[in-house]
Amino acid sequence: MNEEICGKCSREDRKRMGYLCDKIKVEDGLPVRCIHSQSVLKLKILKYYLEIFSVAMRNKFENMYFVDLFSGPGLCYDRDNKEFYPGSPLIAMGLKYQFSKYIFVDLDANTSQILQKRCFNGPEDNSKQVTYLNLDANSNIGEILSHLKLKRSISVFFIDPNGLDIEFDVIKKLSESDSIDLIINFSIFDLKRNEHIYRDDNSKADKFFGLPDWRNEESRDWLRLYKRQLGRLGFAGVEGNNERHITVKTPTGASIYHLIYASKKELGLQFWRSAKNKFSGPSIDFVDQIRKK
Ligand SMILES: C[S@@+](CC[C@H](N)C(=O)[O-])C[C@H]1O[C@@H](n2cnc3c(N)ncnc32)[C@H](O)[C@@H]1O
Repeated sequence: MNEEICGKCSREDRKRMGYLCDKIKVEDGLPVRCIHSQSVLKLKILKYYLEIFSVAMRNKFENMYFVDLFSGPGLCYDRDNKEFYPGSPLIAMGLKYQFSKYIFVDLDANTSQILQKRCFNGPEDNSKQVTYLNLDANSNIGEILSHLKLKRSISVFFIDPNGLDIEFDVIKKLSESDSIDLIINFSIFDLKRNEHIYRDDNSKADKFFGLPDWRNEESRDWLRLYKRQLGRLGFAGVEGNNERHITVKTPTGASIYHLIYASKKELGLQFWRSAKNKFSGPSIDFVDQIRKK
């Protein structure tokens, strides 16, 4: 790897490139997703949750699905610590107890192709049931669901956009099934930074919350509002308001995103709490903690 080259991109450059970097040398020769060390927490929690979930749920259902609505290219590079981490698709495919089917959705054609090539080249071979969809997850949720047989199945949907890009109508559609569990990245950074735009003539935050009422709430209550919205859809397995949530922060302490869990069943929430507790304690900074594990 050429460390001289890494680190030269500005935040704007990285955004323009869709966070894909082709300067870092990777064995498979494909671009990676450039991340900061804070986001490693998300990947570790996801991995641990999926491990517990897949052990407990294997053999209990005819089908066990993993759907990644914002999949990315499959491999991440932590530019702060100069380390590689599998992205969410490769984490899910690398589990000991496999899902019966994987659906990877990405709006960006290049990213979707990179993921497909990476999975084909790598140890995660194509003998697995994998479908790659180069689609907008918001406007094609019906088509995405048509790849699953939801009866007698259980599914994990990982929803990890860059900003407030998941529309509540999608969550509503997913809530029609009692067997879909969700892990949602709520980009509080996007909302706070662009609040003035979203308050005016832009409907992005309205679509995210599924209603315009967020404007009447204090920013500290936006997470509560979102969880209330999930409750209205019948998601009983959502963390309580007094419970500690996973909030990924910058080194200076600014919140970037919350990871929200939602399931129709209490059991799923227990798995989530186990994953959360493994990587957090009441007085421990998440980022420091993750570096020690
Ligand atoms: C934060 S990244 C996902 C990272 C991935 N979960 C991982 O662990 O590496 C978000 C991805 O969503 C894609 N994307 C953005 N808008 C989308 C949309 N409306 N539908 C589907 N994918 C989208 C982007 O191209 C990007 O690859």
